[in-house]
Amino acid sequence: MANPKVTKAVIAAAGFGTRFLPQTKAMPKEMLPLVDKPVIQYIVEQLVEAGIQDIIIVSGYSKRPIEDHFDVPSEELLQNLRAGGPKKAHFIKEMQDLADMANFVYVRQKGPYGNATPIMNAAHLIGNEPFIYAFADDVTMADPNMYQQLIAAYEVYGGSVVPCIRAKTDADYDRYGIMAGETVNKRVIKARGIVEKPGRAKAPSDFAAIGGYLLTGDVFGYIEEALDTLPKDQEFYVTDSLLQPMIQDGKEIYGLEIDYDARYDTGNPSDYVKAVVDLALRRPDIAPELKEYLLTRLQS
Ligand code: G1P
Repeated sequence: MANPKVTKAVIAAAGFGTRFLPQTKAMPKEMLPLVDKPVIQYIVEQLVEAGIQDIIIVSGYSKRPIEDHFDVPSEELLQNLRAGGPKKAHFIKEMQDLADMANFVYVRQKGPYGNATPIMNAAHLIGNEPFIYAFADDVTMADPNMYQQLIAAYEVYGGSVVPCIRAKTDADYDRYGIMAGETVNKRVIKARGIVEKPGRAKAPSDFAAIGGYLLTGDVFGYIEEALDTLPKDQEFYVTDSLLQPMIQDGKEIYGLEIDYDARYDTGNPSDYVKAVVDLALRRPDIAPELKEYLLTRLQS
């Protein structure tokens, strides 16, 4: 039987964005603009491009602008756009399309601190299906996009697929979950184990897991026991609390080295600025003037 199709995604969007205060005091970090589009829209567009139809956004009390963003445009906005004539006309369809991109579901995050909690909060909406678990502020630019690459690997191998990059610096081993396993092909390993932020000395390989996993529905069966055995002062991590027990149980989990052009942790101010500049340089309406400007700034 063919592997069930991946049509659902969960996006974790409950973080406070403390690295970006004061900007994020009253505005969700996921709504920071990359030129003229909020960060979370890049994630949603990539998911939709990969065939995702249902998007569950796990958020918190200050995240209302995300819901408004993916809603139908208000009548006031439409009136303004209509009054703007041909110059603004293209926005009318664009704003409507934004709401029609996917079925959006909003859930509040409840539970222990850690990136496995949103999975627990969305479990009742997914059932036993494979789904993508994306982080709302990690943007990867790739062609095909990262989620398409994960789904393509899943269609071949069948198990959960964890996107990976190669760790290079000491800081990478303190920042990422590291996976070890048998080589399946140049870009794929079958996991033997995964460990969260082990440090270079204890790292079992250089396969560093980044956010945005494709998980099979059996992950939900691991939540209860993981919570029962979670030490008091430990974060509820997907890697240590869910993926590692699954691997130990013989579940097939693969690490896929992602082929990408650029990655941005947009919750980090310097990465964010790089993302804005890079994405503006990809825009034919902005790039020529910006290039000239950047050159003069760099020469002065
Ligand atoms: C999370 C994951 C970690 C992964 C990282 C990628 O860590 O737990 O395995 O390598 O994202 O950014 P966090 O950054 O939430 O501490």
